[in-house]
Amino acid sequence: MTHAPLKVAIAGLGTVGVGTVKILQQHADLIRMRCGRPVVITAVCSRDQNRHRGVDLSNYQWFSDAAEMATQANADVIVELIGGSSGIAKNTVEAALAAGRHVVTANKALLAHHGLALAKLAESKGVSLNYEAAVAGGIPVIKSIREGLAGNAVTRVQGILNGTCNYILTTMRQEGRGFDDVLKDAQRLGYAEADPSFDIDGVDTAHKLAILASVAFGVEVNFNAVQVEGIRHISATDIQFAEELGYRIKLLGVASMSLDGIEQSVHPTMVPLSAPIAHVEGVFNAVVTDGDAVDSLMQEGRGAGEGPTASAVVADIVDIARGIHLPTFGVPVEKLKPSQARPMNLHTGAYYVRLMLVDQPGVFADVAAALRDHKVSMESMIQRVREPGESVPVVITTHITSESGMLAALDAIAKLDTVTEPPRMIRIESA
Ligand code: HSE
Repeated sequence: MTHAPLKVAIAGLGTVGVGTVKILQQHADLIRMRCGRPVVITAVCSRDQNRHRGVDLSNYQWFSDAAEMATQANADVIVELIGGSSGIAKNTVEAALAAGRHVVTANKALLAHHGLALAKLAESKGVSLNYEAAVAGGIPVIKSIREGLAGNAVTRVQGILNGTCNYILTTMRQEGRGFDDVLKDAQRLGYAEADPSFDIDGVDTAHKLAILASVAFGVEVNFNAVQVEGIRHISATDIQFAEELGYRIKLLGVASMSLDGIEQSVHPTMVPLSAPIAHVEGVFNAVVTDGDAVDSLMQEGRGAGEGPTASAVVADIVDIARGIHLPTFGVPVEKLKPSQARPMNLHTGAYYVRLMLVDQPGVFADVAAALRDHKVSMESMIQRVREPGESVPVVITTHITSESGMLAALDAIAKLDTVTEPPRMIRIESA
């Protein structure tokens, strides 16, 4: 094994880029000992060379074009921390791999959309494409599944993969505040994506889930197979009812393997308070992996921010310095199976349904009839006290039922004259 320094060029000097520089500078000795060779930054790239970033960048070659740096820098590894599924980030990664340079990236959107093609390119050049920071920030979940759980057939992987959504849902519950108000806090704290709809509409979680599913099940990354629903419509009323029923509402990404394919979905979920993931609060992320040998394994940690994300980036660099080289998604590209998507209407589970009803005799009988007609069995029902002249919230939880039956029942219920708002449905996850 070589003892020559590993030379690193970093594209993108935002929060994570600066965090990566800091760790590589501050822990240079520790990292040298752990790798048996120094890891040195040789070049950096950012559009604005004059901005003060709180780190000494004076010894590094500067580039303003990341794709140019990818081929021209004196570097073994190109670290892409620009972001975005196309444009400069994609060009940079492609150029680096094509030039036979290892790549480390935190770019979940890029991997979710182009992971397969990039993995093929990396493999053809015999270089690493490492992306630990792309999923759940500081939690070493890719390493856990790809290496630590290599002896397991994984049956399900699920998690809280977006800190912004978890922060919003937690704060709404704890402080009884509205969605929009809390979203502004999350943006100010720097957790939200540049386009916050990626967070709150579940897209960011879906990017991460598609990557996790590929590593967990040895299938091609298939972002289009993920069925996505965000948290915009979650109201304070639903959060209160959840609490009363013994649940917390979490935005979960869930990928599960069954005989007829892989179900990948992102949706707000009622999680029982007895499940550890229900207690993962604020900006924290958690991933629960079910393996046939290990049983259920939960990892919790910070999924965003300078230190946690840079920690994952540096771990990927350290792997390269140590000479650890693994197939991008755990198995060689040609062995990845096509991801056979299992449609959500084949899903079975329990459901929470909130209706707003006119409070008059016979209304509930109509609702019950619609449930009966579609073979949905009720588990519980709560009706709130009526304020004069107002619709009354009625919450129903069901036994395990088919999603197609549930949706058909809701369709029929929504058409009743006595139902004053579209019904709200939230899936209940057992653990
Ligand atoms: N916007 C993401 C989050 C950042 O809130 O978790 C990390 O991917």
